[in-house]
Amino acid sequence: MLVLGIESSCDETGAAVVRDDGVVLSDVVQSQIDLHARYGGIIPELAARDHLRSFAPVVSEALAKANLTLADLDVIAVTCRPGLVGALLVGVQAVKGMAWASQKPLVGVDHLVGHILSVFLRRGDKSPAEPPKFPFVSLLVSGGHTALYRVDAPHVSMMKELGATRDDAAGEAFDKVAKLLGLGYPGGPVIDRLAKKGRAGSVPFTRPMARNDSLEFSFSGLKTQVAQLVETEGVPTNEERLADICASFQDVVTETLTKKLFRAAEQENVTTLVIGGGVAANKGLRERVASVAAKRNMQAFLPELASCTDNAAMIAYAGAMSFARGEVSGLDLAATSRTSLPQGTRKGRGAR
Ligand code: KG4
Ligand code: ZN
Repeated sequence: MLVLGIESSCDETGAAVVRDDGVVLSDVVQSQIDLHARYGGIIPELAARDHLRSFAPVVSEALAKANLTLADLDVIAVTCRPGLVGALLVGVQAVKGMAWASQKPLVGVDHLVGHILSVFLRRGDKSPAEPPKFPFVSLLVSGGHTALYRVDAPHVSMMKELGATRDDAAGEAFDKVAKLLGLGYPGGPVIDRLAKKGRAGSVPFTRPMARNDSLEFSFSGLKTQVAQLVETEGVPTNEERLADICASFQDVVTETLTKKLFRAAEQENVTTLVIGGGVAANKGLRERVASVAAKRNMQAFLPELASCTDNAAMIAYAGAMSFARGEVSGLDLAATSRTSLPQGTRKGRGAR
């Protein structure tokens, strides 16, 4: 089965052609980072307008790179939730037109399900030979979400939330801390790079919910600790000090994420662990998860770097899995800011 995937939920316009065994035939991502960088965050109106500009060229490029036309495809998958509604609407409405004109079936995909399944994507020769086996526990860490799931099959109906953040998402914490330190947007990759040169633990940050046995997270307090530090000593101009703060911050975040991921696996009695989302590209997190898994004789699966941050290949793959189960969306497919994944009892920002 060949699927065209479309992604426009936030600040990346993406189109990709993927086979239902996870092989990526093409994956085009048009990032809007430069557009939003000067504001230190995403401006929804600008995002939507840029998706409109990029949509047609990005789709044409994805088809051309796969050496295919629309007629060769079996189904079109599009992110319809959660995300910025104006941004989502561009992809959803455009794809409805394509599906109607080409008489191809259409499947709406939850962006978070795409991240959870991104580990199944296979790009070139570097891909792992064996995909993870079900059931597994997944740590989803992106700019908008941080949660743990038990995954019994590649479909939203077979995914259960085990815990989530009470406040900021991990990626949001990276971005806000980078902004406080004057490092620009997005913060994750810059902090990741600087952390490598610094000494983890040299700045004594309190570990969030460290003694808490639950599978919930909280990162807003950690961000406040960095804000207080900047208030006291100013934005560090000394490269060494900056690197120490980044290393210590990243150490606390990745330690917390890793601890809870393994706690969730123990609770669910599974030995396969998966990570996904933009923060899954973090070197510190990847090394930590891999090393704890090796020590405990468990299997950790890390998506390739290109599959971590927003992309349309993961949407195409998730769409393929839904279509294989007989799911098809009509031309009344709606865009919504809420996820379709089952959520615990949490309230507030983390519940989006
Ligand atoms: O999954 P994603 O591309 O978009 C959302 O769905 O939110 O995630 C973007 C987030 C941003 O907060 C970005 O700072 C973070 O992922 N990120 C990283 C790294 N690369 C991207 N965080 C830590 N280390 C990285 N290397
Ligand atoms: Zn995402």
